[in-house]
Amino acid sequence: MKSNQKFKPCDLVIYGALGDLSTRKLLISLYRLEKSELIEPETRIIGIDRHVLEEGGFVKVARKSLQSYLNETIDDEVWQRYSARMQYLMIDLTQLDQYKQLNAVIDSKSRVLVNYLAVAPFLFKNICQGLDKAKILTRESRVVMEKPIGNDLKSNREINDAVAEVFNEDQVFRIDHYLGKETVLNLLALRFANSIFTTNWNHNTIDHIQITVGEEVGIEGRWEYFDKTGQLRDMLQNHLLQILTFITMEPPASLEAESIHSEKIKVLKALRPITADNVEEVTVRGQYTAGYMKGQAVPGYTEEEGADKESTTESFVAVRVDIDNWRWAGVPIYLRTGKRMQNKRTEIVVYFKRLPHNIFKDSYRELPPNKLIIHLQPKEGVEIEMLNKVPGIGGSITLQQNKLDLSFSETFKNSPFFGGYERLILEAMRGDPTLFLSRQEIEQAWAWVDSIQDAWARRKIAPKPYSAGSWGPVASVALLARDGRAWEE
Ligand code: BG6
Repeated sequence: MKSNQKFKPCDLVIYGALGDLSTRKLLISLYRLEKSELIEPETRIIGIDRHVLEEGGFVKVARKSLQSYLNETIDDEVWQRYSARMQYLMIDLTQLDQYKQLNAVIDSKSRVLVNYLAVAPFLFKNICQGLDKAKILTRESRVVMEKPIGNDLKSNREINDAVAEVFNEDQVFRIDHYLGKETVLNLLALRFANSIFTTNWNHNTIDHIQITVGEEVGIEGRWEYFDKTGQLRDMLQNHLLQILTFITMEPPASLEAESIHSEKIKVLKALRPITADNVEEVTVRGQYTAGYMKGQAVPGYTEEEGADKESTTESFVAVRVDIDNWRWAGVPIYLRTGKRMQNKRTEIVVYFKRLPHNIFKDSYRELPPNKLIIHLQPKEGVEIEMLNKVPGIGGSITLQQNKLDLSFSETFKNSPFFGGYERLILEAMRGDPTLFLSRQEIEQAWAWVDSIQDAWARRKIAPKPYSAGSWGPVASVALLARDGRAWEE
C-alpha cells in the first residue's frame, strides 16, 4: 500500500453519473474525500450519462445527493471546491462514435484518466471500445469496475476478455466495497500484527468459524437485478468469500498487492467443491415471506413491487465450507447471509476448541469454549469471551463468562472513520491495486459458486421460506445442529 506521497491529479470519469451507485455512494464519498483534503487540487470529476442536463445540472444533482445521503451539514467552503471540479457530458454509451466528445475535455498530459464504470456490466465492453476508438487512453489510464462482473464464470470471462483488449491487467481495478471497510482491513492487523493470533490460528486450536452478513433491507426497487442474481451471487460470491479469504489465508510476505492476491487465490483453490451429491447437506437456500421488521409489517419476496409471484430466487443462503489444506483440515467455516434478517449485523465468530479436561466441575459442568467475536458492522469492534473467577473467599472457585471488549468507536474516538468507497476511490486515483481483486481471484470464486448453483439446479432445490425479521429458515439451524453446533445469536 502506498504512503501519503503526492500523487498525479486525475480526470475521474464516472459512467452512469446520474445512476443509483453514483448518486448514493460515489458523489457522497468524493465529497468526504474533498472535506479531508485528500483529493489532488487539480483533479476533475467528469460525469457521463445519457440524459440531457441543463447548464450546471450535474452540480445540482450532486448537491441533491448530498442533501439526501450525507447525514451532515454541507460545508460551504468544501462544497465550493468540490463543485468547481465537476463537468458533465451527455453520451449514449452504446454509441461508439459519441466517445470522441471526451477528447475535448480529457487532459492526458498532466492528469491520469480514471474511468469508473458505475453502470450495468453489459456496457463495460462498449465503454472500453468507445474509449479505444476515441484514442484517448494512455498506458497510465485506469478502469474501475463495479460488481457484478458477469453472472457466472463464463460471462465474467467474456467481460474480462473484452476489457483486456483495451487495458492491461495492471490498469484494471475491480472493486468489492467490503475490502475498503475499516474493519475488514483490520483483519490484516489483527492476524498479522498480534503474535497471540499467529500461533493459535489453525486446526489445533480452532474448532470452527462462523461468518454472518445479515441485512435488514429487502429488495426495494431492485427486483429486476436481484431476481436474476440471488443472494449467493449478490453477496456470497464476493463479500463473504473476501472476508473468508482474509480470515483464513496464509501470512502474505508483504502488503504488496501481489503477495496478498496470491495468498487469497490459494485459499479459493482449496475450497472443497460442492456437488449434487453433498449440496443438500452443506447448503441452505431461503426466501423471505411476509413478516415484521422492528414492529412494521413488510411484504414477502414474491409480493415486492414488480415481483414474479413464482420466483424461486434465494434471498438467503447458508453454506458449510471446508478448506482442504493443512491449516484448516477439519475446521468448518459456516457462512450465512440474507435479506430481511432480524437486524443488520456483519460479524465473524471464531470458536476455539474446548479444553480436554475440566478441573472446575463444581461451578461449571462443561467449560464453554473461548470465542473471538469480530464485529465488522454496524458496531465495529473486537470481543474475546473468556472465563474468570468470581471474586470471593470460602467455598469452591466460581467461574463466570466475561468479555474483553474493544469498541472501535470508543477507542478511536478522534480518528476519522471512512466508508469502503472513500478508501477505494482514493486508492484507484492513486493507482494502488492492493485492495482490488485480480482477475484470477474472481474467476476462482465464480468457479466455486457456479458449482453450488449447478448442484442446486440438478437437485431442483427450491428455497425454503422464512419470515422477514427472522434469522432465516429452520434448515439453517439444522445445518449446524447436524455438526453439534449452533449459530451465534
Ligand atoms: C451490495 C449488494 O454489493 O452490498 C447489495 O449488491 C447489498 O444487495 C450491499 O445490500 C450490502 O452492502 P453493505 O455495505 O450495506 O453491507
